[in-house]
Amino acid sequence: MEPVKVGLLGLGTVGGGTISVLRRNADEIVRRAGRGIEITHAAARDIEKPRSFDTSNIKLTTDPLQVVEDPEVEIVVELIGGDSLALDLVMRAIEQGKHVVTANKALIAKHGNKIFTAAREKNVMVAFEAAVAGGIPIIKAIREGLAGNHIQWLAGIINGTGNFILTEMRDKGRDFADVLAEAQQLGYAEADPTFDVEGIDAAHKLTILASIAFGMPLQFDATYTEGITQITRDDVTYAEELGYRIKHLGLTRRTDKGFELRVHPTLIPERRLIANVDGVMNAVLVMGDAVGPTLYYGAGAGAEPTASAVVADLVDVVRALTSDPENRVPHLAFQPDALSDLPVLSMEEVETAYYLRMQVQDKPGVLADVTRILGDHGISIEAVIQKEPREGCPHASVIMLTHRVIEKNMTDAIAEIEALDSIEGAVTRIRMETLNAQ
Ligand code: NDP
Ligand code: HSE
Repeated sequence: MEPVKVGLLGLGTVGGGTISVLRRNADEIVRRAGRGIEITHAAARDIEKPRSFDTSNIKLTTDPLQVVEDPEVEIVVELIGGDSLALDLVMRAIEQGKHVVTANKALIAKHGNKIFTAAREKNVMVAFEAAVAGGIPIIKAIREGLAGNHIQWLAGIINGTGNFILTEMRDKGRDFADVLAEAQQLGYAEADPTFDVEGIDAAHKLTILASIAFGMPLQFDATYTEGITQITRDDVTYAEELGYRIKHLGLTRRTDKGFELRVHPTLIPERRLIANVDGVMNAVLVMGDAVGPTLYYGAGAGAEPTASAVVADLVDVVRALTSDPENRVPHLAFQPDALSDLPVLSMEEVETAYYLRMQVQDKPGVLADVTRILGDHGISIEAVIQKEPREGCPHASVIMLTHRVIEKNMTDAIAEIEALDSIEGAVTRIRMETLNAQ
């Protein structure tokens, strides 16, 4: 049988990895897919640029639309990134009745509802395994492997760049900007690295994970997003003294009132496996009612780990080319007319525990004032440590861990604490999750 002809949009980190993996493992891929998979056309901004991979026998152009519209191309692989040109190209491919594979989480999180509707109308597949957690086959695991479960919650370290930065800062005392530059050089970071460090990339991925876990429409705009730029070395050290690690976590939970959908730095007990996921590695912990907790671990970014997922999607698409569209796995795991309309909760309604750090005047009665305010808002304290003032600084640091409470109560309490004369500056708040079976 003739190989399937693929048009590749983008010859960057992931595009290059995809060409290399497809070429190196060509024989295995034929044995798996039943047909060869060949990249025949590709687009990049600069087709003269020297590349570290072999582009021989690929027709190169600077115009990605030419690739999409070439009648020879049966599957379009979008690896350009962004959600403007990429959206136009993907919609055009669908219009032309072509199947699409993409690693673009921004595109799926923001425009997936529209893309999937168009794809259903045209009976084409849109596969996006590489969009979440790099090489970990988490979409397949949730969408197919856990299909028998009522999924209760999931939590993941889903940005490799952010985890790499936090790990290097903690273990080697390296500077934030210096580690970010290395992540960019290694091809881990987004074209705009603020997407990594401000949590936007993780929010894109969490939006996708929540939709396939719970069968809800993609709702990126409703996802609460905080990045890692405010984490200080002091917080990392104090958290460790208390038996916790700070990780940048995406967390989604189904409650009676609605879905929690949030991305922020989180204290996790250090005994949890996920608290020990370091460097560019990602991990996603999924709690199903039947299976209990399951944990998926692997490289979250980089050329070949991501290409592993892109090529797996290509194999899946090729295997399903002749299948009845009605019998394909639904894009968002659930039948499109059976999606949940439960709302996404605002952050104020979310319940979680907290780590608080504040600078206090070192005099009697200060702690009593703080604990009274917390008590007035129904917040109970689990642990307190006080650090004596450092040389040249008149204030002591007080660090507290609290039990779970609604975020609104904590926000109100913090406002009152910050208004006390004995408190200097803002109170640092980091959310805390035990990630046990609740
Ligand atoms: P790169 O920036 O390395 O590659 C982008 C490619 O797109 C380049 O080859 C570039 O051409 C090409 N390109 C950009 N604009 C145009 C245009 N107007 N016309 C034609 N070609 C264009 O990105 P990555 O490979 O890192 O990322 C690609 C996608 O994969 C993104 O959506 C990203 O979020 C996602 N992703 C990335 C991962 C990673 O580890 N890097 C992991 C998982 C997903 P040129 O080379 O000439 O500049
Ligand atoms: N910039 C992303 C990350 C790439 O660091 O996780 C993988 O999606």
